[in-house]
Amino acid sequence: MFATATESQTITLQGQNGPMDLDGQPTNYNDFRDQLNRDGYAVIKGAIPRDRADKYADAFWSYIEDFGLGFKRDDPSTVKRDMLPVINEKGMILNYGVTHEQWVWDIRGEPGVIDAFAKVYADDDLIVSFDVVNVGFANREDLPANKPWPHQDQDPSKPGFRCLQGLVNLNPCGPNDGGLIVCKGGHVLSEQFHREMADEPRIPAWTSEWYGFTDRGMKWLSDHGLKWEKVCAEPGDLIVWDSRTPHYNVPPTMKQDRLAVYTCYMPVKDVSQEDLIRKKDAFEKRLGTTHWPNARHVAPNNDAMRDGKLCPKNRTGPVQDPVLNERTFTLTGIPYIKESA
Ligand SMILES: [Fe+2]
Repeated sequence: MFATATESQTITLQGQNGPMDLDGQPTNYNDFRDQLNRDGYAVIKGAIPRDRADKYADAFWSYIEDFGLGFKRDDPSTVKRDMLPVINEKGMILNYGVTHEQWVWDIRGEPGVIDAFAKVYADDDLIVSFDVVNVGFANREDLPANKPWPHQDQDPSKPGFRCLQGLVNLNPCGPNDGGLIVCKGGHVLSEQFHREMADEPRIPAWTSEWYGFTDRGMKWLSDHGLKWEKVCAEPGDLIVWDSRTPHYNVPPTMKQDRLAVYTCYMPVKDVSQEDLIRKKDAFEKRLGTTHWPNARHVAPNNDAMRDGKLCPKNRTGPVQDPVLNERTFTLTGIPYIKESA
């Protein structure tokens, strides 16, 4: 679609009905999509109403307390490794089947969250990842340092916009609080970066859908005028970013803990029947995936290892087996499996 601003100046505007290109060009959606297209990320304010966001935060804290290891949300002295479930240095709870807890599924089913992705893809037929949750405690000293690991979550050999990532923020998250930091506009220069930096030795990755930026890569980004920005958000806000946008997370430096649930959706039309069958199996076994909703990688189990041994509080599935409604069940992808598949 073309819109003529003046006779001498023509601005190309993206079609308002098709999927977004995320090409950095000006758009006039008059919502979060304009920022997303320009900067490679955006904040959708109040994607979840505050009262429900607070309820989810409460469920998140109760979940951690109910491991019965001694953690109490109001007692900072209980923020200790032995009093908490296994949480990695980046704040992620990866195990225990947490990805299929009822409160996590309820967040995935929030209309304001789904709607943001549906708008970007211009598609209501979406499936969701079985991704993890993140809790970053302020002033935590008994964890290895959370070193910056700037990366993109997309295979550099497959350029172009392919996947929108997201996280639902559940605690106030200001400039000095822990959370997502992004390289603003990095999505636009992604193809050029990988062309010009093709000879750079790769940081080892367990999946081709991950690329780590080396010091030389970081210098390239800086030399091309790109700047890093800590993303701030309130409880109930949804943060979305193009998988090509370089990003990582920073630990809290003040008193505020971080609570976030990753939510990522993609159109079912971009997914094969084989992917859907693998995803169904992951759902039925209550296993997790990466942020990619096509379930290319499924966790082999839910086992949490503590000092080389199975955590005494290990569990093979969620505490509360989820009851899905019609919308959330559709997001598993299962209804899209053809009978002959
Ligand atoms: Fe990432």
